[in-house]
Amino acid sequence: MVAPTVLRLRIGGGLTASLVLFAGTILAIAFAGLGMVPVIHGDERPLLPPDRLPPVLLGEVPLGLGDERQIPDDNGLTAPRIALGRRLFFDPVLSADRSAACASCHDPAHAFATPDPRAIGVGGARGRRNSPALMNRVYGTSFFWDGRAATLEEQALLPIGNKIELASSVDEAVARLQADTSYVRQFREAYGGEVTADNLAKALAGFQRTLLSGDSRADRFQAGDASALTPNERVGLWIFESRGGCWKCHQGRNYTDERLHNTGVSWGRQPLDLGRFEVTGQEQDRGRFKTPTLRDVAKSAPYMHDGSIATLRDVVVFYNQGGGQNPHRDALLEPLNLSDHEIDLLVAFLKSLTGSTQWVTPSDSQTVTPRDEGDRG
Ligand code: HEC
Ligand code: HEC
Repeated sequence: MVAPTVLRLRIGGGLTASLVLFAGTILAIAFAGLGMVPVIHGDERPLLPPDRLPPVLLGEVPLGLGDERQIPDDNGLTAPRIALGRRLFFDPVLSADRSAACASCHDPAHAFATPDPRAIGVGGARGRRNSPALMNRVYGTSFFWDGRAATLEEQALLPIGNKIELASSVDEAVARLQADTSYVRQFREAYGGEVTADNLAKALAGFQRTLLSGDSRADRFQAGDASALTPNERVGLWIFESRGGCWKCHQGRNYTDERLHNTGVSWGRQPLDLGRFEVTGQEQDRGRFKTPTLRDVAKSAPYMHDGSIATLRDVVVFYNQGGGQNPHRDALLEPLNLSDHEIDLLVAFLKSLTGSTQWVTPSDSQTVTPRDEGDRG
């Protein structure tokens, strides 16, 4: 099988997507006749999106989210720590050839995921899994699609040494940061100590704990503002909570039970990704993956652990068929018998889960309009 070619153009702003599509179309037409697949060298992922996050990240918890944030005692959120983690998240110094950073695969414009079905790392290396969105990870109790990391601190150093991600090593990253006086100063300010692997992990984890998605129209509706959802979205919510059965796993304020299930996505495709089973070796874990949050889900296509489902509608169609048949499929899944129209309504509801924070601010403006606090249900 030939992997799809990904054409990347390094140009700014919102033009990127349409130009990529446009150029891609021309190339596709040009090459189709020749029976060739265009290969564009030199400007492929990983791209590195610039930091255009809002200036202040440590705000109040938005409407709809709970108090159960998982913040370790020794890594409380302070402004210097968040500023340090933020700088590191966008800094290619952490990658072997200084070409990629965390943000390359966790792009703020896509709920901190990427449009690539499977992650592309340093040198164009392709992983087998989809970059998960990083929204509301402060509520997470396990990390990675197979839940193999228990905390964000534990997770944070792994991509640095991963050969198909940043392809460097933690020692190398720490050495480079120690050689940079501005980092030495920032680490001291943030943690009262030196540049160490431990403090590096803490800073990255702390920054990620500020990436909150809430105050969506669905939250305002739940808080009592009946007009926050359209009539169609309201029916979609009702389907989510009744015949759709979605709530059985996507539950609570963060729309996840924080557990692992076998939905059967890509079952039978080679090489088979056995998910949680690869971590535990337990029979019942075959094909189990972590239930992702559905907040900001409209921004993070494509979907599932391998990015194999392109659109939200296709995800709902997948569930309507009862998920993917396999011997280990979760007992909570069964065919739903939703009509095409009902599928559309459920999709409309999923789109209302987009939070109110604008993660990518216009590059030419220094000041950012604060979230509208005035019209919360
Ligand atoms: C080459 C792309 C790539 C880079 C670079 C990368 N990641 Fe990831 N990230 C992924 C993929 C793919 C996964 C899922 C892997 C898995 O589940 O096995 C992931 C998972 C995660 C998760 C788990 C989220 C969850 O909800 O389970 C966090 C947190 C995370 N990455 C943070 C980071 C940080 C911090 C960096 C920089 C130090 C980073 N990533 C660099 C691709 C990347
Ligand atoms: C049995 C538990 C369960 C039920 C029921 C369930 N889901 Fe999921 N959902 C999951 C798991 C687990 C994943 C990740 C599966 C994977 O990647 O292998 C997932 C993934 C998704 C994703 C992709 C999110 C992303 O970031 O990639 C969407 C969207 C989604 N579910 C929506 C729904 C909707 C809508 C319903 C109801 C029709 C539903 N789910 C029912 C457990 C469930």
